[in-house]
Amino acid sequence: MDKVETAFMNSPVRRAMQRRLALPLMRRFGGPLPEGGRVLEIGCGSGYGSQLLLEEWGAGHVDAVDLDPAMVRRARRRLAPHRGRVRVGIADVTDLSALVPADGEYDAVVDFGILHHVPDWQAAVREVARVLRPGGTFYFEELTKQGLDRPHLRHNRSHPTENRFTGSQLVEEIDAQGLTVLGHRDPFFGDMIYGGSRRDG
Ligand SMILES: C[S@@+](CC[C@H](N)C(=O)[O-])C[C@H]1O[C@@H](n2cnc3c(N)ncnc32)[C@H](O)[C@@H]1O
Repeated sequence: MDKVETAFMNSPVRRAMQRRLALPLMRRFGGPLPEGGRVLEIGCGSGYGSQLLLEEWGAGHVDAVDLDPAMVRRARRRLAPHRGRVRVGIADVTDLSALVPADGEYDAVVDFGILHHVPDWQAAVREVARVLRPGGTFYFEELTKQGLDRPHLRHNRSHPTENRFTGSQLVEEIDAQGLTVLGHRDPFFGDMIYGGSRRDG
């Protein structure tokens, strides 16, 4: 991420957005987590999302991964009070085989705005589907191609410019990977998409 985006992701505004907008919409469409469930957060950034999953969503255990070592260090500091219930590591969401060799390990996978950073986002969705157990839930918050094309984001070089997705393309890909999208909402004139989906099985 560039400096501006990193500052935003570590800011109280982003935390408020995760808590007050993303989580309620994810829960509306994906339903609640199973109490004590095992959850993977992809691209965990500062770790605030995982903190909410542990403290407010009843997750029993969270694995949180990010590609950026600086973010992983930050998330580890934030999540230190939950030692024993959380594991934070460096991993690329398009290949989680080192961290999660077996399929169907998680009751839920949560994406707080990361797929729009991943050049091969389809591979990431495939990996999400692989690690979810049948009946498990994939909750997602994403920035669409339309959002990325806005003047204030267009020049952010940490966003890939090729192979971006509209909200419908993201939903179609999730469906194609064997999950059923239960519902979604596309606020901010379609610049964002929030939803929940269930792994078929
Ligand atoms: C926009 S930030 C979101 C951070 C956090 N989820 C939040 O909502 O505050 C995107 C995050 O995805 C991470 N990321 C980008 N590509 C990744 C990949 N291929 N695998 C894992 N994490 C990735 C970045 O390092 C960054 O922390």
